[in-house]
Amino acid sequence: MEFFERHEGGEKAILVHLELRQYSQDEDLSEFQLLASSAGAQILGVVTGSRQKPDAKLYAGSGKAQEIAELVKATGADLVLFNHALSPAQERNLERVLECRVLDRTGLILDIFAQRARTFEGNLQVELAQLKHLSSRLIRGWTHLERQGGGIGLRGPGETQLETDRRLLKNRVVMLTEKLEKVRQTRQQGRAARQKASIPTISLVGYTNAGKSTLFNRLTESDVYVADQLFATLDPTLRRVDIESIGTVVLADTVGFIRHLPHQLVKAFRATLEETLEADLLLHVVDTVSADRDIQIAAVNEVLAEIGNKTPVLMVYNKIDCLETHEPRLVFNDEGVPAEVWLSARDGMGIAELKTALAQILVGDIRTYHLQLQPHYAKLRAQLFALNAVKEEVMQEDGCMTLTVRLSEEELASVLRRVNLQAQDVGVHLTAKNSIDW
Ligand code: GTP
Repeated sequence: MEFFERHEGGEKAILVHLELRQYSQDEDLSEFQLLASSAGAQILGVVTGSRQKPDAKLYAGSGKAQEIAELVKATGADLVLFNHALSPAQERNLERVLECRVLDRTGLILDIFAQRARTFEGNLQVELAQLKHLSSRLIRGWTHLERQGGGIGLRGPGETQLETDRRLLKNRVVMLTEKLEKVRQTRQQGRAARQKASIPTISLVGYTNAGKSTLFNRLTESDVYVADQLFATLDPTLRRVDIESIGTVVLADTVGFIRHLPHQLVKAFRATLEETLEADLLLHVVDTVSADRDIQIAAVNEVLAEIGNKTPVLMVYNKIDCLETHEPRLVFNDEGVPAEVWLSARDGMGIAELKTALAQILVGDIRTYHLQLQPHYAKLRAQLFALNAVKEEVMQEDGCMTLTVRLSEEELASVLRRVNLQAQDVGVHLTAKNSIDW
């Protein structure tokens, strides 16, 4: 049974964007417009304003609400989108005053995600997030909105059905959670197989619309869906690519990041994001020509920090074809490691520089090792942690530890020497420096 129908598009919407002096970080109006059109809304008008703090009942003050109501009448809009998180009560009160359906920022983003999810897992995750968002709103009843009949946001059952479906909804949440767990397990098996084969993984991360899918296609010469819409890519797409002078790598395209991603969605996509971090390298793709470039970079870094990223990051400044001086560049940090590549994924300028950077980073000394540690190798474990080299630690049933570490072969050899252990004691085979065995 499906609770949510896919959206048909073309809804006539009024956008409401208020600046709140209480908050230092306001949402961005142009991004909100892009979000609304990404959901398929036809924007008939934008109402802006500023307040000290949100009104408890209506979020906007009653005067502002009246202004919106008049605009709704005059334009024949059937949806009002707020660029804010509304409480269920505020949504209900606003729908009464405006006599039209109201959706908040979370509901809007959930709707876009519902339209974009393509894989089985993506669909499950979105449906779960929607059900959770909906369940807090179920208490409200829909009688004040007689014309309710689907559309952006909550395309769901009507009033009486909702009453009877509350129990079903709970069952569905349980069922979805179980299904997701199974899908995750299968995915983990695939990941384990890749690790065993020591194929390096590169994940593309970046703010939505930065050009990740375009770069992914450029590198893999495949045809992933690219659109000038937000969240065109929702599900991680994995592809094996052969890159000259590197060999085979697995490239992963991921969901676009966004400022203030609704909390339910961060949670829903955590597994996906965490998988991203298990890569050997992150390419942080940046829309270099966006007016909000720095804010977007900071937003991505914030999410990465939140989920505890320790994977090295290479900055990719994309869309240089739109800059006046569109010379591709490879910039190194003080240690001589590639730190930035300036390129155009669309035109292919700078792709050679990117490949050079990838080769230097991935073929360089730093590698991922999976060490098997006996319980009494505590000293080795402590030293690896002190080097900040441990990425993951898994306790086995027999009390042994599997440690995923990233460090150079030289460093590993030297740590092992210090604690009087041989490479084979921890289940690895060290070859000559700089060798590649994949
Ligand atoms: P999400 O799926 O929302 O996360 O987006 P994305 O980061 O995957 O971006 P995508 O590749 O879909 O590209 C977004 C838009 O930017 C599209 O309109 C692309 O054509 C455009 N674009 C991508 N790369 C370039 C580039 O190098 N130059 C220019 N001018 N436009 C680009």
